[in-house]
Amino acid sequence: MFASHPANRPAKKIVRNVRRITSCLVPAIVCLACSPSFLSGAQETGLAKFHIDAQRLQGTLEKLSEFGRNPEGGVTRLGFSETELAAREYVIGLMKQAGLQVRVDPAGNIFGLRPGSEKLPILLFGSHIDSVLHGGNFDGALGSMGAIEVIRALNDLNVKTRHPLEVVIWTNEEGNHFGLTTLGSGVAAGQLGPEILDRKDDQGLTLADWLRRYGQDPAHLTDARIPPGAVAAFLELHIEQGPNLEESNIPIGVVQGIVGLKRWMCVATGFANHAGTTPMNRRKDALAAAARDVLAVRDVVRAESGRQVGTVGYVKVEPGAVNIIPGRAEFPVELRDLDAAVIDRMWQQIQERFHAIDKEENVETSCTPLDDAEPASADPAVKGAIYAAAKSLNLSTMDLPSGAVQDAQKMAKIAPMSMIFVPSRGGISHSPQEFTSWPDAANGVEVLYRAVLLLDDQLNHR
Ligand code: HGY
Ligand code: MN
Ligand code: MN
Repeated sequence: MFASHPANRPAKKIVRNVRRITSCLVPAIVCLACSPSFLSGAQETGLAKFHIDAQRLQGTLEKLSEFGRNPEGGVTRLGFSETELAAREYVIGLMKQAGLQVRVDPAGNIFGLRPGSEKLPILLFGSHIDSVLHGGNFDGALGSMGAIEVIRALNDLNVKTRHPLEVVIWTNEEGNHFGLTTLGSGVAAGQLGPEILDRKDDQGLTLADWLRRYGQDPAHLTDARIPPGAVAAFLELHIEQGPNLEESNIPIGVVQGIVGLKRWMCVATGFANHAGTTPMNRRKDALAAAARDVLAVRDVVRAESGRQVGTVGYVKVEPGAVNIIPGRAEFPVELRDLDAAVIDRMWQQIQERFHAIDKEENVETSCTPLDDAEPASADPAVKGAIYAAAKSLNLSTMDLPSGAVQDAQKMAKIAPMSMIFVPSRGGISHSPQEFTSWPDAANGVEVLYRAVLLLDDQLNHR
């Protein structure tokens, strides 16, 4: 079935049976997976037959890792940057070579369309190519290059799908630029709009300035919105960025839900004064207060039972001289959990702690909301396709939440979604040490290939 899609093969009867018994989809797929037609035209590797080309995938990932490469390894390829702009050109070239009809939307998201045989909603899959500061070579990159590899494999095997397929490369997923995570997918999902255009970066450039650099007209930002119903399903392949799969020796994670995230930018304002002549009991030390605030965030989050997390990623201190008492300390607070109510409860407690510290330290701390991504649940049918695809490859699976925020959670607003996770060595990510083995990467892309075809076969029958 995967060598050439059931829509144009005599095995249509088998496919109809598969559809009828979707509830026990997996066994049916496994038997299909063993049928000769299913395996024809595939590559011989290990237990099961691969349709994607693992070497070709590796080549594109290694090439992409050159854009923004750091001397210590890994990459810095921030969203809305010259290095990402160069990487985008490379990726657009790959998409065009794969025969995709490429377009860039007003938020800078890159889409590559492969028409289907029927007039149906789009099967959308992809990820992001922007990284964090000093990040790794797999976060986002694997799902992006993997999506393009799926298209090349379908072309190689001359597979025609019923649904139009579309590869997407979302802009500024990490949000290290402008402090807004999943920016491109957030605009596409209708969650973000013109209110973000005036956001300024450290160089004083606005998002609107960067969109113009990306060849877009900020006045048309809302044209990037994808209308509900336009997308049949969204799939994203991603590294786990945690230790669970590797520690359990399981090659495929099936994402059940994605955490919500809220971020605030806080500023503790004290009074810059002489470090030598100001008595200790007359100081308004903004850094001392901020340091206590940082520990208060950690204490409140640790006091909760569950998998919630809270982080203060940095503190910017002014004036920042050895002999001046810090007068100002700026720091972001980020809270994440699968339950938005837990985030809100923790934030209430944290604000009370900040207030008490202000009194004792004789400073003023104020926080403004920076970002807000709601938790999202994966769709059973999309998860079913991932289970079945993994089963057809004799790959075991583990159900997992995503502790990282993802573009898929914005897509959950307008379409059924789920994600395929593959192991991260040591669970490390957002680090030059981020690594996924090539066999694990290839497993993930082959599962993506098969899940796309399963969804193409199962969805939208009149
Ligand atoms: O920060 C995150 O959770 C994701 O990697 N953007
Ligand atoms: Mn990512
Ligand atoms: Mn990331």
